[in-house]
Amino acid sequence: MRPTPSPKTYRVKSFGCQMNVYDGDRMAEVLAEQGIAPAPEGEEADLVVLNTCHIREKAAEKVYSDIGRLRREDGSSPLIAVAGCVAQAEGEEIMARAPAVRMVVGPQAYHRLPEMLAEAGQGKRVTDTDMPAETKFGALPQRRRSGPSAFLTVQEGCDKFCTYCVVPYTRGAEVSRPFSALLEEAQKLLEAGAKEITLLGQNVNAWTGEDAKGRVIGLDGLIRELAGLPDLKRIRYTTSHPNDMTDGLIAAHGEIDKLMPYLHLPVQAGNDRVLKAMNRSHTVESYLRILDRVRAVRPDIALSGDFIVGFPGETEAEFEDTLKLVDSVGYAQAFSFKYSPRPGTPAATMDSQVPAEAMDERLQRLQAALNRDQLAFNRKSVGKHCEILVERKGKHPGQWLGKSPWLQSVHFADEPGGEAAIGDIVTVELAEAGPNSLRGTLLQPAHA
Ligand code: 5AD
Ligand code: SF4
Repeated sequence: MRPTPSPKTYRVKSFGCQMNVYDGDRMAEVLAEQGIAPAPEGEEADLVVLNTCHIREKAAEKVYSDIGRLRREDGSSPLIAVAGCVAQAEGEEIMARAPAVRMVVGPQAYHRLPEMLAEAGQGKRVTDTDMPAETKFGALPQRRRSGPSAFLTVQEGCDKFCTYCVVPYTRGAEVSRPFSALLEEAQKLLEAGAKEITLLGQNVNAWTGEDAKGRVIGLDGLIRELAGLPDLKRIRYTTSHPNDMTDGLIAAHGEIDKLMPYLHLPVQAGNDRVLKAMNRSHTVESYLRILDRVRAVRPDIALSGDFIVGFPGETEAEFEDTLKLVDSVGYAQAFSFKYSPRPGTPAATMDSQVPAEAMDERLQRLQAALNRDQLAFNRKSVGKHCEILVERKGKHPGQWLGKSPWLQSVHFADEPGGEAAIGDIVTVELAEAGPNSLRGTLLQPAHA
């Protein structure tokens, strides 16, 4: 391939989970350090990074169609880099099938983007899907920009090997980032304007490290330390595994005011045989006991979860157990998916894959139940005076969008005598509830 001039502008398109959003932001920072600017809205970028997700079906097809869409009328393309979990899992195929792709960069290798860009500039096509033992984080530039709500990856990878899941293969083994690096990154984010930090990890509650005194601590210890930072107003964490809900972490929900009353604790299914086949290593009963204990220390906690319908062999009766579980928990929010066979995972080759129509029907019934509960949860908030972290402007001047402590999206408008601003924590009276958001009236502007 011919050498190409260095790109002047970039665009990072992230798909999938919050960890990808975090990675996408960090890639943008790496590119900005190279003097490459974000492409203005609506204009073609010289360099496009497709930060992909491999968790469910059609991920690879989506990447190929996105690549196709970047092609110009004369058949040429901008410089394309494929990053993220599809890059990790199918990097070679992508290079073989899509000549327009010049770089394939796995989730553990994106700190190497500058060298890769230099090689691509010489006309080479470059792949880096290594998972080096020393982490990429030390090689990334410092955080300089942040909105009011920031993500901070504290842990990556997974050793649990649920039989349906591709994460242990694409993100590698569980690794915790060191405490001192996290404290430093948190401080930088606060200096850059963050008010809330969501600690991220595929198994975030498996995080472990040593505090400044050399004591071994878990995620609850990290949360306690972060709660001591005066400028940090809110702490969240996601996503957690039932087996790593330690006594300390459960207690933290009752003790640390800055830890928001929200827990995302995936269960996946409501039947013990299915859970065993999924290699989930918890039962319905043990899961419910954890929720009871969290509710005992934090009665107003909003619960959230992930569900898979149509895991191989799941019978109608077993699926109905999931509906029963949903009825008994009353989730405030949830994510539900049709089972999708992932190449290389044990479940993909299990007998009795569930037919597509049955999966569709089960997903519809499950989502109807979850939506019902989500609306009920939001309706219970009506009338409350609630602290809202203002995250964005609304559609019209003077309108704002923010989040309640329970992670509900709340719309409100400025009132005579009081104006909100991005990053403020304001008091809003919640007046109206829909399934996905609430509307309220500003009572008191900033006391952040
Ligand atoms: N099929 C469907 N859903 C899946 N998830 C993970 N792997 C699969 C799969 N193969 C869901 C799980 C997990 C969430 C991130 O994605 O519910 O918690
Ligand atoms: Fe996947 Fe299970 Fe690990 Fe979650 S715990 S990332 S579902 S293997």
